[in-house]
Order: sequence, then C-alpha cells, then structure tokens
Amino acid sequence: MRQYLYEEEEPNPELNMRRRLTIATAEDNIPDDIEELPPLDDEEYSEEEIEIEEEIEVEMSDIEESDDNVAINASYMPETFEQLSAMYRSKMETKTEPKAESKFERKPQSEPEPEPEHEPDPDPEPTTATDIYVEYEDGDIEDYEHDEIDEEEISDEEEDEISDVDDAELMSRLEAKYGRLPAKEFESDPDSDDPSWTQIKPKNPTGAKAEEVADDLFEQELHKANAEMINENPAKALRAFNILTHTYAHKPTAHLSRAQALERMADTRRSNQLLQEAIESYKRYLAFGELITNQSEFRIASERCIQHLRFLGHTHQVFSIHELLIERYPDEAQLRNQLSLSYLMSNNLAKVQHVAGETLKRWPNNSVAQLHFGLAVKQLTGDYARALPYLEFAIQSQEAGTQEAYFYLALGETLQRLGRHTEAWQLHQSGVDKKFFLSVHQRSLYNEPGLKAKPFWQLTETGIAPQLEQLQHNWRAIRNEALSLLNKHGNFQPEAEHLRDTGNWQQYELFSQGKRLHANCQRAPITCALLAKLPAFTTCHRGQVKFSAMQALTHVWPHCGPTNCRLRAHLTLLAPEPHLTSLRVADQQRTWKAGELFIFDDSFEHEVWHNGTQLRLVLILDFWHPDLSESQRRNLSPI
Ligand code: OGA
Ligand code: MN
Repeated sequence: MRQYLYEEEEPNPELNMRRRLTIATAEDNIPDDIEELPPLDDEEYSEEEIEIEEEIEVEMSDIEESDDNVAINASYMPETFEQLSAMYRSKMETKTEPKAESKFERKPQSEPEPEPEHEPDPDPEPTTATDIYVEYEDGDIEDYEHDEIDEEEISDEEEDEISDVDDAELMSRLEAKYGRLPAKEFESDPDSDDPSWTQIKPKNPTGAKAEEVADDLFEQELHKANAEMINENPAKALRAFNILTHTYAHKPTAHLSRAQALERMADTRRSNQLLQEAIESYKRYLAFGELITNQSEFRIASERCIQHLRFLGHTHQVFSIHELLIERYPDEAQLRNQLSLSYLMSNNLAKVQHVAGETLKRWPNNSVAQLHFGLAVKQLTGDYARALPYLEFAIQSQEAGTQEAYFYLALGETLQRLGRHTEAWQLHQSGVDKKFFLSVHQRSLYNEPGLKAKPFWQLTETGIAPQLEQLQHNWRAIRNEALSLLNKHGNFQPEAEHLRDTGNWQQYELFSQGKRLHANCQRAPITCALLAKLPAFTTCHRGQVKFSAMQALTHVWPHCGPTNCRLRAHLTLLAPEPHLTSLRVADQQRTWKAGELFIFDDSFEHEVWHNGTQLRLVLILDFWHPDLSESQRRNLSPI
C-alpha cells in the first residue's frame, strides 16, 4: 500500500552559500534581572497615590487568578502546526521570565484572519511605508497629533491627574515628591482654560528662553521619574510619567519612559493589561517618527513594541511598526525577516511569500528569508519539490532564526511528501537531538515531560474505561445520527490543513478545547446528550470530539497531533471494508471494525489509507493522558 520513493536529488550549489545573517531580536534587550516590587509602603504615598495603587492591586488580583500560559488562544490547528503564533508567544514568554507557564493571564482572543491574497504580486515595490500612524485596538487608524491628548484615551485615573494639574496644589505636591522645582521664574495662571502645564508660564515670557527653561524642567522631572525606576519603584515612577506625558505630551521621551515603566510593571505584576498600556505608550512615542533622532532608542522601542504585540497575539498591529523600522534601516535584511515572521505568525502566507521573496531578490543567500519563502511555497502551492531547497538550505545553515521545532516539522513533512524518507528520518533525529521532538516518531510540540508514551493503548490503561464503554454501548444510535448529518450537504467540513494526499476526508466537530460547539451539538442531540454525561471527553481542553468521515481512495499524509497530553479514541461507526483501510501509528498498523473502539496516542506519527469503495465513519474522542494530575490538567493551556 505504501510506496516510498528513495529518490536522491543532487544538492543545489547554493548549499555553499555564505552564511551571514544574525538575527538580533528584541528579546535580546530584555533585562533578566527584574525583581519583585517591594511591598507598597503606604507611608510613602499620598492618599491619591494609594487609591491608584489600590485600583492596580484589584486589577492584579483579578488577573492573577487566571494565570495561564498565554500560548493558549492562538487560532491553532489541532492536527498540525500551521499557526506559529502560539509557539512564538510561549517562546517569548520563556525568554522574558523563567516561570513561563504562569506569567500572564489567559488571552481571550484569536487573531482575525487576514484578507486572502490569491496571487502574490510578481514584481512588487519594496516593502516600506511612509505613513506614520497609530493603530488602536478597535482597528481605527488615528493620526497622532504630537501636542494634543485625546480625551477619550484618558482613563479615569489619568483624568484625576489632569484635573489635578489645574490645582494650585500640584506644584507643591510635585515639589514634595521630586524636591524643589526650578520654578522661581514661573507663576501659575489661574485664568487659563488650558488644563495642562502650559498654564505655568514664565513671569516675563521671552520666547526661546522660556522654551529652554521648560525643556530643562522637563529633563529634570524625567530624570527624577527615571530615578524612581532605577530605585526599583516603577509604580511611583509610573505616576510621575503619567503626569509628564500629559504635561509634556509633545515630548517623545515622556511617552517612551512611561512605556518602559509600564512594561516593567507589567512584567513584575504579570499583567497583560499593563502590558497593553505599555504598548499604547510605545505607539505614542513611535508616532513621533522622524522627530525621534535617538536611533537606538527608536529601534529598541519598536522592537519591544512588536515583541509585546506578538506576545499578546495582536499580530495585526505590528506591521506598521515593522515598516517604520524598515524605512529607517533599509539595508538590514533581518528587519524584513522580522516582518515576514509576523506575517507567518498571523498566517498570512501570501504576504510571507511576497516579503521573503523581495528580501531574497536583494539577499539571495539569506537563510531566514529562504526559510520563510520555502514555508510559504509549501503551504500555498503544495509544490514540495520547489519548497524543499529553500527549507533545506536554511535549516542546514543553522543560522539564528532558522532553528525552531516548527521549521524542522515543516522540512520533515516536505521530505516525507516527496518520498525522501531516509532524509526525513535523519532530520527528525536531528530534531530529537536538539530537544525539539520527544522522539523521531513522537513530534508533538506542546508536551508535558514524563508521560508514558506508546502508539496504541488498552482500554484498561486509560483510567476512563467505563465512560468509553458507555459510548461504545450506544454506537448504533451515534452512527445513525452521524449518517443523517452526513446526508445533508454542508454539515461536515473538509479537512483544511493540507493533510490529505488524495481523496475526501471530512469532519464534524462537537467539542473543541473542552467547549461544546452549540450549533453543531444542536444538530447532534443524541450524541451530545450521551457526551454530556461523560466528563472525560467534555473537559479535555487539549482535544476535540468529532465525527470523521472518510471516502474511498483517500490517503492522509503522515502527521503528528500537537500535544502528548491527550490520548485519542476512535469509536468505529461504519467500516464495511476493514481489509482495505489502515491506520499506521509509528510502526504499528491496524484497521477499523464497526462497533469497536481503539485508543492511540496521536502525538505519534500516524498515516491513514482507505483503499476501499465505501464510506468509513468514526467518532474521534480525545481525553486527558492518564498520567496527568488534576492540577496539570487544570493549568494546561487549551489546544
Ligand atoms: C486522527 C486522524 C484520520 C481518520 O484521528 O488523528 O488523523 O481516519 N484520523 O479519521
Ligand atoms: Mn491525525
């Protein structure tokens, strides 16, 4: 049944290309010495500050309740690994904080699908942008006025501060906080409508001189606020930055410093909300564009902002920032690779192909661009022979940005689909050596260590035999329901992950990530009523429950599921030609028989053939690996 082609192709001469790329990622700039904030000392704070602190504390406690791996909400494809976001999020998390699994709260969102792009522009313009704008959460694009504060952007807390600025007490409070301000030649103008510090005018305004003095004052205050940061008091520093950004909204560094204070607090307090505020502040800073002359500050801020946006899964917001960077540094291939990586993370493969293709025109030997281009070609066209050299050379280069489990999977898959099984095996072995994979056969990427691993399992080993038997007992009712659903066009969905070599394979999902899919369950009331009494299947948030309908003459490419944390049962509903169908899991093979049930670990490589003439129908049920403790199950991110 299986045909392996051991065709060996000549290595491409590009193999000898010069390796010159070193990706410097924003992660490199993350301080790894961030310590816990000391407990807040009320005596050091004004009443108002304490209020603010309390608000923050409340938010924190809400957030800390729901600690989890942030990788969870990527629009993740359960069978393979077509979506990188989750991986990169968890990776960045690991880099910023060793306690990776519990850093920030769950992120209740998934990336919106980008506009489909059918034909990549064959000869597009270089990717640069001149527009400088801030793209806000709601997707609105807002021109940023350097010297204006948008009232709607101001939180209640900040609103207080603004009205405080009106208050004559402000100066004395600031003085109490930062020492005496050099304001001898200033006086407050109570008649002014302007609620900002522009009220504080020189007694004898003298144009440039006044500006200079105001600049000095700003610099001093910034310096003092920064000193709070250095003194490990970001909460206090943040309060000062809040005032500074309103008072000196036209000063880029005020926004930058505020962003840094927020970022640091976000990290210490594990708060995505604070991180979001840091991002907004970074965006305000970056919106000053060419007015920012400090190159390294601009660069670090851009890269941090991109990194945070990726981390939160807001990949669609990063593109304008990438373009600002590319515009500023047009000769750096790595900045273009970062752009195509962001497109890869948002699953916009047409853009990946376009950006990486442009990069290769100018830097044909750039490994990361080759890798991204090869991945896009593989996914978009299924032209494995064309994709292979790009993937192969890039990964063999071992250069920074090319050594990821996901890329090894993609190359292995490409080799397998070209029938080059020996090379695929060798590549998988090198992935095991690099600790990307648990074994050559078990290549899931989201793994818990130490779980018993074998291809097929006995019913008695699962710990949930009664629940499986309960379903098996009702297999005819389940079959009838599935068949009537199949009769109506549009209920079952074609497999959409390029796992099919030939034929027709469709699925109908009932539960996904431990959540009941209401519309589908309504149309399958019998099966869902049975499932409702069986928590083993409805609470496994690293899996699904679904019908799988396979037509004759179907071959499913070898593939691995995403995690070793679940086992998978097939309850066979219809299998008229068992001798003509086959499931291979690692090196073991078996077939389906109606009314029977078997259990396998789908993190092991598996492959399916249906060489018969009639429909084969099964109910697929995922459940937690029996070795996982209750608390492990609770804390694992959904897949
Ligand atoms: C699986 C799988 C194919 C099938 O259950 O993971 O790939 O036969 N199944 O339905
Ligand atoms: Mn599978």
